[in-house]
Amino acid sequence: VSEDVARLPKKGLVVAIDGPAGAGKSTLARSLAAELQLPYINTGLMYRSVAARALERGVAPDDAGSVERLARELSFSLDDGGSLLIDGAPPASALTTSEVERIVSVVARHPEVRSVLRAEQRRLGVAGAVVEGRDIGTVVFPDADVKVFLRAEADERVARRRLERGSADPSLADDLERRDSLDARTNPLVPAPDAHLIDTTDRDPEAVLAEVLDLVRAARAHEA
Ligand code: DC
Repeated sequence: VSEDVARLPKKGLVVAIDGPAGAGKSTLARSLAAELQLPYINTGLMYRSVAARALERGVAPDDAGSVERLARELSFSLDDGGSLLIDGAPPASALTTSEVERIVSVVARHPEVRSVLRAEQRRLGVAGAVVEGRDIGTVVFPDADVKVFLRAEADERVARRRLERGSADPSLADDLERRDSLDARTNPLVPAPDAHLIDTTDRDPEAVLAEVLDLVRAARAHEA
């Protein structure tokens, strides 16, 4: 993987969806990708896969060199339906465990690791994709056709994580808050200047999808 990949010219429609954990990124990105028949690239899963590999191999999350090596060893691709494959397989459920979440922010903080994964994200998305993460509109696809930055109130974000995980674990709220503040040190969660800000707190997923589809139509009309 060469760092030059980050400069690969974009050839298809790219929608960047950024925001903090629990803001509704995956819900939106998944349905948007299906609607637009574009690949869906969840970049959080890529960072999570490096964290999971570090746990498996007993690599310390703060050992930048070793973690970078793990990141380079993993292979990322898309299947025929445009879903992310990690080492040729669909993302494992182990990627969403609290063990992974406890270290993923530390793993994601190393600039070496970020540059490996960002290049992979660019490579996977250049032909057109809906790409979800934290730094997609700012760093990976500053040239995205549409940029969306989602936010939601903290209580709502915790409630969504609970539903998603089917867990009443009281530590979820603390975990989310802890990860937010660790994440913020890696990527100051600042929207790109040209991102559309959408607060999803009191919104139906369908309404948010419709709003973003309108943005995509407008961008396409502008291009045509
Ligand atoms: O979106 P998520 O919660 O699955 O992301 C997992 C972790 O990966 C999150 O703690 C921050 C990090 N991440 C990142 O640093 N940059 C991205 N583009 C996506 C995720």
